[in-house]
Amino acid sequence: MLTGSDPSPPSAEALAALLEWYRDAGVDLAIDEFAIDRFAAPPPAAPVAAPSPVETPIHRAAPPALAPTAPGAVPANPAAEVEAARVAAASAETLDALREALARFEGCSLRLTARSLVFAGGNPTARIMLVGEAPGREEDLQGVPFVGRSGQLLDRMLAAIGLARQDVYIANVVPWRPPGNRTPTPEETAICRPFIRRQIELVDPDVLICLGGAAAKELLDTREGILRLRGQWLAYDTGKRQIRAMATLHPAYLLRQPLQKRLVWRDLLALKAALSQEPH
Ligand code: URA
Repeated sequence: MLTGSDPSPPSAEALAALLEWYRDAGVDLAIDEFAIDRFAAPPPAAPVAAPSPVETPIHRAAPPALAPTAPGAVPANPAAEVEAARVAAASAETLDALREALARFEGCSLRLTARSLVFAGGNPTARIMLVGEAPGREEDLQGVPFVGRSGQLLDRMLAAIGLARQDVYIANVVPWRPPGNRTPTPEETAICRPFIRRQIELVDPDVLICLGGAAAKELLDTREGILRLRGQWLAYDTGKRQIRAMATLHPAYLLRQPLQKRLVWRDLLALKAALSQEPH
């Protein structure tokens, strides 16, 4: 047991147990530059002086801003990063070139905390493209989208209508795992937008399926909630042509709300019907 009053250094077992405890609590990433000793005795409290008339809280200096490149920081000039992303994405003529452009791209701070660039999975010549929000821990470790618990459910959903990974192409709005699986910020999403748009254009699927509200908002240009939006066929302009697009519930949501699988079953049947109508 580690306590603040024990002067002997903690044993390797105690440190391993502490790390495991952090991991179970979802803390699997250290993003501060210096380690914080949570067991150190707190510093003595400074005496509280009455504020002088000129030193009311409103006059105190603001805390220092995060460095522009710090993980999670808003970039110094998001518009410049978005423009750099647009140029890099537009100049990629193939999916391999797009993957390389993303691997070189330094304008999104998420790459600093992620282990892998999670570019895509499945079959680039598939007629169906699925887009999720962002990779999670397992995807970050393996560098492949939807391989964790949500991915296993996604595989079962596809199998229910006779499809396998090789029948679909899968990507995410944001290709790097946000620290601690937090929601990507609007700036991070805006910076990654040109890349996912170009990826859809290069894959040129017949049908686009947005997995969850975040992907639907990003790609279908809507503010409608996912429970209202799901199951509707909309148009998506790939830049080359209009294709059919539908949002459905995210598998991670279904893991928490299994009764909602009945709604997704309807969406899957609609997808199957659409595939039999679309020209190959
Ligand atoms: N959730 C997503 O949105 N994407 C993944 O790749 C994994 C989980």
